[in-house]
Amino acid sequence: MRLQIQSVSKKYRGGVLALDDFQLELNNGVLGLLGPNGAGKTTLMNILATITKPTSGQVLWDGSDIRKRPDDLRRELGYLPQSFGIYPNLNAQEFLEYLAAIKGLPMRLAKQRIAALLEMVNLTHVRKRPLGGFSGGMKQRVGIAQALLNDPQLLIVDEPTAGLDPEERVRFRNLVADLSEDRVIILSTHIVSDVEATATKIALINQGRLLQAATPEEILQAIEGQVWQWTIPSEEFEAAKEKYLISSMVRQSDGMRLRIIDTEQPGPAAEKVTPRLEDAYLKANAGLNGASK
Ligand SMILES: Nc1ncnc2c1ncn2[C@@H]1O[C@H](COP(=O)(O)OP(=O)(O)O)[C@@H](O)[C@H]1O
Ligand SMILES: [Mg+2]
Repeated sequence: MRLQIQSVSKKYRGGVLALDDFQLELNNGVLGLLGPNGAGKTTLMNILATITKPTSGQVLWDGSDIRKRPDDLRRELGYLPQSFGIYPNLNAQEFLEYLAAIKGLPMRLAKQRIAALLEMVNLTHVRKRPLGGFSGGMKQRVGIAQALLNDPQLLIVDEPTAGLDPEERVRFRNLVADLSEDRVIILSTHIVSDVEATATKIALINQGRLLQAATPEEILQAIEGQVWQWTIPSEEFEAAKEKYLISSMVRQSDGMRLRIIDTEQPGPAAEKVTPRLEDAYLKANAGLNGASK
């Protein structure tokens, strides 16, 4: 399957330019759409899900314009929005049956599919419990199950790990990895570690613009040799902070241990270290904010 996002811009009433000439092409695999709050992630996902119309540009799903033929895409779409409403009095099974009916799935097929999905998201044992009593992670898994009811070729999940505890996050990542064969999955987040392990491609977005789109390996290679570990006396920290882009710092007995992103070695004692995705993300966003560092 192929999804082509061609020069998509979105200006909301009131004048906010939420997407600015956004261009990206996707094939099967997991795309991590990574960017800070307000970057335009939800806007892009709503456009892809045919909920919002772009102001200009177009989106093609297997060559077909989703604005002219929205049903071609909707049939093959599974969407878990950022804010996902549930009916607290329905149990998981009833809720999924209800949504399957809305999506037009024949009841017999729906029942089979729901049983398999409940198993997959590990909710079979609580399927008769009202959703109102579910934890954040359990609700999220119901959300994933509903997005998969029609066995979608395009699965869009917006900020799925918000509100999940660390253990639930890991479980969610594993679930995505299991689903990732033979479909296009788009997962948005502002948390680097959410997509570090599962994404086959990462798109960095900020201020409505695509900053970089590449495999995690390529993104890391691009800053190879530019990440340094450097321990300095505490009193020199303020000056270093002015001069360098710092991705982390740890106070130690002998001073401050900094992780610095720079093309030049910051000092003779600074050691080159292996880049992490967090470093690349920081650098891409710092560049956009026009930092003088
Ligand atoms: N319905 C709307 N009307 C006006 N502005 C909006 C609307 N939705 C989002 N925005 C603005 O568009 C920008 C991008 O928002 P959004 O797509 O929600 O970003 P993200 O999901 O990355 O946090 C923000 O500046 C936001 O305030
Ligand atoms: Mg959002």
